[in-house]
Amino acid sequence: AVVDLIPEHNFVTCVANQSPQYSATISKLVYSPHSPSFSFIFQSSIQNFRFNSTKFHKLQYIITPYSADHVKAAIICSKVHGLQVRIRSGGHDYEGLSYNSYVPFIIIDLVNLNNVRVDSNNGTAWVQAGATVGELYYHVANQSKGHGFPAGVCPSMGAGGHISGGGQGTLMRKFGLAADNVVDAIVITADGNILDRQGMGEDFFWAIRGGGGGNFGVVVEWKINLVPVPPKVTVFNIPRTLEQNATKLIHRWQQIAHKFHEDLFIRIIIFVGKDSKGGKTIQANFNSLFLGTSDQLVPLMAKSFPELGLKPEDCKEISWIQSTIYSNGENPGQPLEVLLDRNHVQKGFFKGKSDFVTEPISETNLEAIWKVMQEGEAGVMVWDPYGGKMCEISESSIPFPHRAGVLHNIQYFSKWQEGGYLAEQRHLKWMNRLYNFMAPFVTKNPRTAYVNYRDLDIGRNIHGIFSEAKIWGEKYFKGNFDQLAHIKGMVDYGNFFKNEQSIAPNFYL
Ligand code: FDA
Repeated sequence: AVVDLIPEHNFVTCVANQSPQYSATISKLVYSPHSPSFSFIFQSSIQNFRFNSTKFHKLQYIITPYSADHVKAAIICSKVHGLQVRIRSGGHDYEGLSYNSYVPFIIIDLVNLNNVRVDSNNGTAWVQAGATVGELYYHVANQSKGHGFPAGVCPSMGAGGHISGGGQGTLMRKFGLAADNVVDAIVITADGNILDRQGMGEDFFWAIRGGGGGNFGVVVEWKINLVPVPPKVTVFNIPRTLEQNATKLIHRWQQIAHKFHEDLFIRIIIFVGKDSKGGKTIQANFNSLFLGTSDQLVPLMAKSFPELGLKPEDCKEISWIQSTIYSNGENPGQPLEVLLDRNHVQKGFFKGKSDFVTEPISETNLEAIWKVMQEGEAGVMVWDPYGGKMCEISESSIPFPHRAGVLHNIQYFSKWQEGGYLAEQRHLKWMNRLYNFMAPFVTKNPRTAYVNYRDLDIGRNIHGIFSEAKIWGEKYFKGNFDQLAHIKGMVDYGNFFKNEQSIAPNFYL
């Protein structure tokens, strides 16, 4: 579809008028499709190539603010010109919601708001939303060897979207989610107000910590509590195939991983691999971070999970910051600056889905699941253990409700490099088949999901009303969804911030 552009000077002049203190040229702040850098900026942080074309949507402008006032200007001017707003920090949204829309819209891209200010004396940091998680980790470690932060595994994710949806990673069994460790924030509302925690009040502040990005306002900055990490941590990655008893090990892991000491995190990455004769098999990588030395870990594993047979030579002692590189599947010995590289991870076409498990899956059922996995295109399941701090925090402490009783999360993820409809359909078909097959083994009524692994198959807004949003909303937020809709009605009554899975306001709760 050909896009009818709003006369450029109107929106751009509006932003310029709203940003009188801006000293650079307005062309470095607002990009129209006529700007030479428009496509580059649009595509710069897109992770999922399924959504990287401007051809089919109605993007009018990209604004790249340097200050909260610029964000405010973008909101006010998009209202004046009847444009929808999409907010983008790291561009990792699984369904491309931060940079796609079917109605005329602008992107507020926070790439230039990526400052991280660490206060190591008080163990806190102010992190701008456009900073990546890798930048956050890097600056924390640079300022204080004794501190870390419990967020996700992929360094190029933006703090804006990632923390808005929760943020789970290798430290969560000891310290909870990224969002559990937020103590203040600066948010710009649909009315253009710039509010901190005190200004927004506790309900609003509750909603932005895990209630999903793009719902309540533009988060410009988070204040986070850093967490203590020891000088050395220990990591290992033990691969096991079906020939090497993978099924029994996974079955055992399901019974115990959530009860391990909270310093010990062992996730499993399950995929179709090769057996010793070169045939198809299931491979499970037991991938771990332990907050201590290998001398402590080896006896702990002998007691907690002897079946895995961990030996001292399987262990690597490194610093916490190196472990953030290791957990992303890379050599932890490389220069730490790799964490600052936003384009380091190979991009591609992908689809993700998620589940939560509260009862161990029997060995017979695991074997049936392996058969379905082997039917399809290359895909992985990542099983992240819960328990520890995750089950001590109440379901309504923040909107993320998946707490006590959850054994582990499952992420289904399929990534491919070949473009085109047919390749996409093959991958989606396999993923749907596996997801449907998993139904009896995961949570029910509702079948829950993790909002950061955004999945439009579980429901989408068509009319933008509460009853419709509740269908997918309860899967992400369980009983917290009503409260989120109520808060939405208070802070964004006109439903200005909306997308295919935004929370619809409810004024009657
Ligand atoms: P993006 O900019 O696309 O935003 C995501 C959503 O948040 C959109 O709806 C957007 O509008 C909104 N948003 C963005 N910035 C905002 C702001 N400043 N204020 C308000 N709303 C804002 N998750 C996890 O918990 N643990 C993990 O280990 C991983 N690993 C991982 C690896 C890879 C390769 C990918 C692609 C994704 C993950 N994720 C993850 C999922 C990730 O947490 C999720 O995609 C986040 O929403 C990404 O945040 P971004 O800012 O990068 O995305």
